[in-house]
Amino acid sequence: MERRVFPMATSLLFIAALMAGVCVSADNTAVSKGSFKDNFDIMWSEEHFKTSADGQIWYLSLDKETGCGFQTKQRYRFGWFSMKLKLVGGDSAGVVTAYYMCSENGAGPTRDELDFEFLGNRTGQPYLIQTNVFKNGTGNREMRHSLWFDPTEDYHTYSILWNNHQIVFFVDRVPIRVHKNNGEANNFFPNEKPMYLFSSIWNADDWATRGGLEKTDWKKSPFVSSYKDFSVDGCQWKDPYPDCVSTTTDHWWDKYDAWHLSESQKKDYAWVQRNLVIYDYCKDTERFTTLPVECSLSPWD
Ligand SMILES: *[C@@H]1O[C@H](CO)[C@@H](O)[C@H](O)[C@H]1NC(C)=O
Ligand SMILES: *[C@@H]1O[C@H](CO)[C@@H](O)[C@H](O)[C@H]1NC(C)=O
Repeated sequence: MERRVFPMATSLLFIAALMAGVCVSADNTAVSKGSFKDNFDIMWSEEHFKTSADGQIWYLSLDKETGCGFQTKQRYRFGWFSMKLKLVGGDSAGVVTAYYMCSENGAGPTRDELDFEFLGNRTGQPYLIQTNVFKNGTGNREMRHSLWFDPTEDYHTYSILWNNHQIVFFVDRVPIRVHKNNGEANNFFPNEKPMYLFSSIWNADDWATRGGLEKTDWKKSPFVSSYKDFSVDGCQWKDPYPDCVSTTTDHWWDKYDAWHLSESQKKDYAWVQRNLVIYDYCKDTERFTTLPVECSLSPWD
């Protein structure tokens, strides 16, 4: 299901950047691909983190003692953020692997955040992918999707496109969720705070699998999720602000074409909407007597 959606020039630029390792151009845009150490710091529990001998594959493990997490050294505001993950296989009920962007190191009361969370399950039962958006500490924007493959069998690519017009969550370049900016003062669109990218693995058997009914079976630990091919093509933050902070249209992820789905992305998105959505907060009128403001925005615009 890998699809090319970029114009040729971007691809060539991207390949050139890959060859150069990490490259930060004069205007603070960054295209990164490199060793773990180039891009990330471990947030906690170094002994639960391992890399392959060549440094290209990273493993996070969870046992009864603790999980583990890492975060980018840099913050970014807008861009394309992508990583390949292979999730904990077998009996992974209760285990959550999170892959997210956040403006802060912790769950601070004014953070902005974009989440992918992979909710484990009993052997043979399907993983669910939960996404969420936070602005200034407020979330409650959950969606849940099933996947069209087993995410524990192989690596798949999970990406976020973020510009001032939309945030799109992709799985293998298929858009599964579109979050729009209405451009008005009352929007629910995180666009001011630069964010780090994080990943972590933890025990969430109080809520994750069948609402917390399925508990983590610690006899199966350690639970290990694997990562590779991190890439960023975005605006790297620099205090007090980087040159690319204003929404220029110098970069493909900020240009008109990236402000909405392409025709082929719309087809994929429609297919996801028909087949894979398990929960959508924008449809949950029991939870919200008045639906959040962004629910009236069309993902097709
Ligand atoms: C963000 O939240 C904080 C604390 O809840 C609040 O004081 C502040 O006014 C909010 N900022 C914006 C821009 O809404
Ligand atoms: C786990 O599997 C059960 C049974 O198929 C399913 O109802 C549930 O949605 C799956 N995922 C989670 C996270 O509970």
